[in-house]
Amino acid sequence: MQPIKSTVITRTLALTLLFYGASFQPAQADDNTNATPSIPHDMQQTLQIPTDLRMRFLAHMRQNFGLVSDLQSLLAAGDFEQAADVAENKLGLKAMNGGSNPISPNTAQVSDTTAFPRITPNMHAQMLPYMPSGMQAIAKNMHQAASHFAEVSRAAAATKDYPAALSALSAMTSQCVACHAQYTTEPQR
Ligand code: HEC
Repeated sequence: MQPIKSTVITRTLALTLLFYGASFQPAQADDNTNATPSIPHDMQQTLQIPTDLRMRFLAHMRQNFGLVSDLQSLLAAGDFEQAADVAENKLGLKAMNGGSNPISPNTAQVSDTTAFPRITPNMHAQMLPYMPSGMQAIAKNMHQAASHFAEVSRAAAATKDYPAALSALSAMTSQCVACHAQYTTEPQR
């Protein structure tokens, strides 16, 4: 385990838990950061992934985190439809198949994939052989939940139903939490 990266993950999980009120309760706190919950490493399955693919996968993950942040900003601005577009196109079922992952020209605020030139469209397909079936199932749940959020958010454009939109967003982010709780990676030896 590499301490620096594990701190990044720990913080990511902590932020996700804090911001989205997911019900996962970590069993113990980190030694060096009492306030920061962490997942016991021995409960995780470590996947060995070729270095280049792993770097692209992690870059994709950081982009996911940026997208969640963007969704929050868009909701805060009352831009339910834009939030729906971002979720559907970049996190939803369309994005899952390595799809076009399009960047809409009028979403200046939204994470720009040109900042992640190493993420190729077929990253998903390349990752599949390294993903246990349980992980694939969580990935699918996450993409489904993103598409569901898109529907709910689009409907909320008329009703301004913030609780519904936030609840659907939380249902999606809890899948991020679920996967991080179970799987970690290291470069293939
Ligand atoms: C199907 C499993 C899965 C899902 C779903 C998932 N992740 Fe990840 N994520 C991982 C794995 C595995 C790692 C690598 C952890 C490691 O190697 O320590 C990771 C790493 C990360 C990282 C750290 C990247 C880095 O540079 O080290 C961030 C940030 C992240 N994920 C955000 C998210 C967000 C936000 C979501 C939901 C929108 C999400 N992930 C959904 C499996 C998943």
